[in-house]
Amino acid sequence: MPSGSKDVPQKIEALREQVRYHEHRYYVLDDPELSDAEFDRLMDELKALEAVHPELITPDSPTQRVGGKPREGFVKVPHSLPMLSLDNAYNEDELRDWERRVQELTGESHVDYVCELKLDGMSLALRFEGGKLALGITRGDGTIGEDVTLNVRTVRSVPLAIPAKTLTKAHLPADFEVRGELLMPLGSFLRMNEEREAQGLPRFANPRNATAGTVRVLEPNVTASRRLDFFSYFLLVNRHTFFERHSESLKALQTAGFKVNPNHRLVHNLDQVWEFINEWEGKREGLPYEIDGIVIKVDRVALQQELGFTGKAPRWAIAYKYAARSGETQIEDILIQVGRTGKLTPVAALQPVLIGGTTVSRATLHNMDEIERLGVRIGDWVLVERGGDVIPKVVKVLEDKPRGHRHFHMPERCPVCGGHVVRAEGEADHRCVNANCPAKLRESIRHFASRGVMNIEGMGDSLVNQLVEAGLVKNVADLYDLTEEKLLTLERMGKKSAENILNEIENSKKLPLERVIYGLGIRFVGERTAQFLAEAFGSMDAVMKASEEELQEVNEIGPRVSAAIREFFDEPKNVDLVKRLQKYGLKFEGHKKERGTTLAGKTFVLTGTLERHTRDEAKKLIEDAGGKVAGSVSKKTDYVVAGAEAGSKLDKARELKVAIIGEDEMETLMKGQREGA
Ligand code: IVH
Repeated sequence: MPSGSKDVPQKIEALREQVRYHEHRYYVLDDPELSDAEFDRLMDELKALEAVHPELITPDSPTQRVGGKPREGFVKVPHSLPMLSLDNAYNEDELRDWERRVQELTGESHVDYVCELKLDGMSLALRFEGGKLALGITRGDGTIGEDVTLNVRTVRSVPLAIPAKTLTKAHLPADFEVRGELLMPLGSFLRMNEEREAQGLPRFANPRNATAGTVRVLEPNVTASRRLDFFSYFLLVNRHTFFERHSESLKALQTAGFKVNPNHRLVHNLDQVWEFINEWEGKREGLPYEIDGIVIKVDRVALQQELGFTGKAPRWAIAYKYAARSGETQIEDILIQVGRTGKLTPVAALQPVLIGGTTVSRATLHNMDEIERLGVRIGDWVLVERGGDVIPKVVKVLEDKPRGHRHFHMPERCPVCGGHVVRAEGEADHRCVNANCPAKLRESIRHFASRGVMNIEGMGDSLVNQLVEAGLVKNVADLYDLTEEKLLTLERMGKKSAENILNEIENSKKLPLERVIYGLGIRFVGERTAQFLAEAFGSMDAVMKASEEELQEVNEIGPRVSAAIREFFDEPKNVDLVKRLQKYGLKFEGHKKERGTTLAGKTFVLTGTLERHTRDEAKKLIEDAGGKVAGSVSKKTDYVVAGAEAGSKLDKARELKVAIIGEDEMETLMKGQREGA
């Protein structure tokens, strides 16, 4: 052992304590002491030490938030005590009725209440054992939830381990349960939806759905990337409320390092409750997450116990629901908005109406399916709702009001550029297929120039905007037509910067064919698909000429992707664009890569944990040998490669009598390929 290594365990533990302390300052208190770079340095130091001493890695180390392997599904777990819901009050009268019941049943005329924000996420139970996070469970049906521990571990405001001295300070034992709300802040929600839109995936309707979707994805690194937050509001020890007052529980949770929403208040009568409700009705707009009301809880636990429960809800708490911010108005017209992916969104132009203090004159109708579902016509009176930061939407037609007479139809041509509008089979959205459509222009240029694509350093948002506004760039090919003279007409553009940009543009011509294909921004053609296309066809020409059937012979390309590729190259404007890129000298030839053939035509499904390869590695090996890897077992599956803890796919394989092989057999198959190739 090298000298000094005796200190390593202590050193690692000390570093962990530091990282935990600073994570808490940053993610729970919102009050960091270190810069991001300083924090990263600490984390890197810890990672480096753990890399040299993997035997010292423990699951509660802050480096281990994203761990574990993708799973097959979630395990059901019973709750220690049912997770209840709340009764609602929708106005002051209902709230006063509730107070009267509380007073009658307890015989108390003065009751203290805690007012909390009703966070619009999903409730979650966290069990801690020995001060460490042992289990995270969704609400499920209230009695049985799902074990989502691996995903919960990625939420940075959830502590993985609480030091003994902190527990002592909070007067908490080492085993307890915390309940609270998991939510997606609006910023993360908007960013995630933008990314989904760019990938051709459907948007989540609201942050609550997005939270529920995110906590149930099977890959913890996806959950980690979506930045959920967790606020604690309930504490159980041995299945009982531990402190004498709810307000003390909140304090203890905070002391123990949990994030407790700071916007709560201990009040002494219902007038003060009402004040709190009114105060937040106005302030809720400014919050970085959505709330849909205020939760009022009787503070003294002894009184809570006297009050007990009715059916599914406690009598000692109530949710005051803010009125959905909605208004009634008339649709004057239905317009089309073209998004950056070319999606055509029908938007209702409204007779302006005041909703929750904001004048609303536009509301989204999403797509044609939605218009049909609502049965909406131009001239109809409708109910419009507005939530947080989300675009107002038409909720329903008011049928007792005079009906409109004009039916809306999607245009066949894009209203911005006149390009063809198509709706692919099985999809809800209509899209403009013209790559030169100005609405798509900015985004397509950003994509083309970005790192990992054509890598044109310096082509940031502001330059792209300027180039588009000045009319210097109308499609990505125009980038190669830029000159120093043209660039110098832009604001804040010096000779030196212009030179740099032109150099960068020139250098991009050296990048390989797959980057050019990727850069075109064809729907569903990401980095990997572009790579497969370049390898399979060897040239841009061949890709452009390929039929849907030929395209589908390529790895991972199915009917949806092949249709998108064909659609792109069937648009004459896109063909012109590509020809120009060729003229400017971009790489249009690549290297046809002959993939192995032993596994050609064979479809594999991977399940469980393999010993020698990660799933990605195994997938790549199979693909390199010409095989295909599918996500689920069907009659078309040739082999299921099963590792440790294989789950339902294995059962399915047995049921369908698909050959089940291990890692060794998989490697034997590959070897056969290599020798034979
Ligand atoms: S207390 C028995 N407090 O609202 C106590 N719930 O409509 C039950 N919620 O399922 C929960 N913010 O998901 C409580 N500050 C808060 C809350 C809150 C949001 C949610 C929770 C619950 C639902 C009931």
